[in-house]
Amino acid sequence: MSELSQRPENSVVGETIPHESAALHVTGRALYTDDLTPRTKGVLHAWPVQSPHAHARVTAMHTDAAYDVPGVVRVLTAADLPGVNDSGVKHDEPLFPSEVMHHGQAVCWVLGESLEAARRGAAQVEVDYEPLPALLTIHDAIDAESFQGARPTAQRGDVEGALARAAHVFEGETEMAGQEHFYLETQASLAEVDDAGHVFVQSSTQHPSETQEVVAHVLGVASHQVTVQCLRMGGGFGGKEVQANGYAAVAALGASLTARPVRVRLNRTQDFTMTGKRHGFHASWRVGFDDDGHVVALDTTLTSDGGWSLDLSEAVLARAICHVDNAYWIPDVRIHGRIAKTHKTSQTAFRGFGGPQGMLVLEDILGRCAPLLGIDPLGLRRRNFYAEGQETPYGQPVRHADRASTAWDQVLTTAEVARRSQEIAVFNAAHEHTKRALAVTPVKFGISFNFTALNQAGALVHVYKDGSVLINHGGTEMGQGLHTKMLQVAATSLGVPLSKVRLAPTRTDKVPNTSATAASSGADLNGAAIKNACEQILTRLVEVDAGRNLAWEEVVHEAYFARVPLFAAGYYRTEGLSWDAAVFRGTPFKYFAYGVAAAEVEVDGFTGAYRTRRVDIVHDVGDSLSPLVDLGQIEGGFVQGVGWLTLEDLRWDTTEGDHRGRLTTQAASTYKLPSFSEMPEDFRVAMLEQAHEDGAVYGSKAVGEPPLMLAFSVREALRQACAAFGRPGVSVELPSPATPEAVYWALETARRTVSTREPAGA
Ligand code: MTE
Ligand code: MOS
Repeated sequence: MSELSQRPENSVVGETIPHESAALHVTGRALYTDDLTPRTKGVLHAWPVQSPHAHARVTAMHTDAAYDVPGVVRVLTAADLPGVNDSGVKHDEPLFPSEVMHHGQAVCWVLGESLEAARRGAAQVEVDYEPLPALLTIHDAIDAESFQGARPTAQRGDVEGALARAAHVFEGETEMAGQEHFYLETQASLAEVDDAGHVFVQSSTQHPSETQEVVAHVLGVASHQVTVQCLRMGGGFGGKEVQANGYAAVAALGASLTARPVRVRLNRTQDFTMTGKRHGFHASWRVGFDDDGHVVALDTTLTSDGGWSLDLSEAVLARAICHVDNAYWIPDVRIHGRIAKTHKTSQTAFRGFGGPQGMLVLEDILGRCAPLLGIDPLGLRRRNFYAEGQETPYGQPVRHADRASTAWDQVLTTAEVARRSQEIAVFNAAHEHTKRALAVTPVKFGISFNFTALNQAGALVHVYKDGSVLINHGGTEMGQGLHTKMLQVAATSLGVPLSKVRLAPTRTDKVPNTSATAASSGADLNGAAIKNACEQILTRLVEVDAGRNLAWEEVVHEAYFARVPLFAAGYYRTEGLSWDAAVFRGTPFKYFAYGVAAAEVEVDGFTGAYRTRRVDIVHDVGDSLSPLVDLGQIEGGFVQGVGWLTLEDLRWDTTEGDHRGRLTTQAASTYKLPSFSEMPEDFRVAMLEQAHEDGAVYGSKAVGEPPLMLAFSVREALRQACAAFGRPGVSVELPSPATPEAVYWALETARRTVSTREPAGA
């Protein structure tokens, strides 16, 4: 067993404790970035002037009238920039554009003594536009050959030959919508500049170091002039991995021009219309099966809807390509990917980071082809699982493949899938207008950033003379419980009770050059860095103790007087990773996280309305660092996935006319989020046992994103319930999201195969 994963007895990691801020969250005392505004003197408020066109040239801008509004202090435009007019990680995002690229894009910002003054001022800014044609769908972009960024291909073997030899070949298309993050706390920044010109930005960002870099770039100063702090976020879900940067830059620019604190906090509609979402994807595919239902070949082209700029689209596409296989072995395979450039918000990271979109393609294929092959979906999925050591399409050997089958068998047993499937058949035979179905789907998700360099982290640990401990690390807290786990890691490494350890807010002047808290690897990376720092201190203390077994406070006290340093910087980098983006091959992941879900739904044949009767999950978190936190992540991830696949329906106005390109779903009133009524009525979550992960911090596994994809089980159950309205063996095509309306039309199509003897094929 590696030293990193070894866990002492009675350790604080593994204890079931509440989230470190749970009491603050539920009493409303937890401070978020914008809560600092009323505590800061003389704050100016910012309001954007948003484009009413999806695509247009800005031919003139008249700001004078804004200054006539009482309380307006300053209008920020491109002319005010001391640095570079660019806030994009790929340098394709002017902060103040001369060509607007999506409806709602900010062209300039107005600063006021109050938010109301800023808003009124913004209404007085006159912008002249020359409208240009806009591409609004992936299909528009494909037809126009409007693509951006790299177009990689992962391939192995001879796809054409294997398809030619396959006993059964099917082809089709799969399309899926994006998703709004709907973090409860919208994008927020508060910037101040001190007398020495040092810029301090409080930002709701998953990536303080990058926010720091972008602010420095825009202001034309060095990184050491800028400090970014993130107290905590009211949710990020990937939406604040890069997209917080621009708002921090606007606040910092305003602060440096006015010498007053400037606050940017989007309201919900601004956040909806200005920030990126999960990428919608389109896939065209050909798949071959042998007579036993083994997938023998897959050829697919994925096209993601990137929106107006690159943002993280290339990395999201890479992860999508690396996850098309999910838990299944595909001997001959070619997966090609490309990114559409459309006139919409720039789509970005969202829990799973393209993985869900890639996996949905093959799950959709299996769900549609099972009836065509005459094999039940359960059996079709299970027989295609990886065997230990088989390689993914990008060449990484699949380690612990048996965990997928172990979790699968456990779910089949504990959820009584066989017995309940029979009961469902009886129920369906007796009910003409209500159908039930039970589906089981697996998850295999790669952990580590695809891009190897990002897999490093730092930490700073201080032990004070009284024995109390203060830790800092590069990760950010967004509700996922990272800080809780880090406190447990520090307490365990130092061998002190949890009450001795406190954690300070994430700041770029404490730990530099950090990676985003993303890819679910926050605990893996920062936990190992904290452990490293603690061990340096512990090694020194062991020397001071010299076998006397002193109490913690005593040895710390003695160490100080012996002039032994009581603080340390920790560092960690994940070993054994390799990735060649040019040929799309390597071992990009440290390990895979596995899970299996069984979902039972009931669908109403008159309306398409459905409910989720029961869900059983077995998920692999390794040896859990914090079981209650992990449970919350599994449940929350699953429900967020169900929202994406069944409820949340982003709509843009695609009609020709004045509102072309406008996002029509701009609030919770028109954008349905999962709520209590959509929770499974009976929800049973278990963690895979004996799941120690050698080589990861205290034997644990990442948990933030993988459970989202357990929601495929609900989508597949809905498909099967629709099929139950039709002739036996009907293959159902289900749109994504499978809203009640979409489910209604799918079951209606299935139902017609009974009355009209239409063919059952896809
Ligand atoms: N859980 C909560 N409550 N809020 C969030 O914003 N983000 C998710 C996941 N779980 C998120 C969450 C995403 S997208 C990621 S990548 C991980 O948490 C990031 O945190 P971790 O690396 O510490 O797991
Ligand atoms: Mo998560 S999408 O990697 O922030």
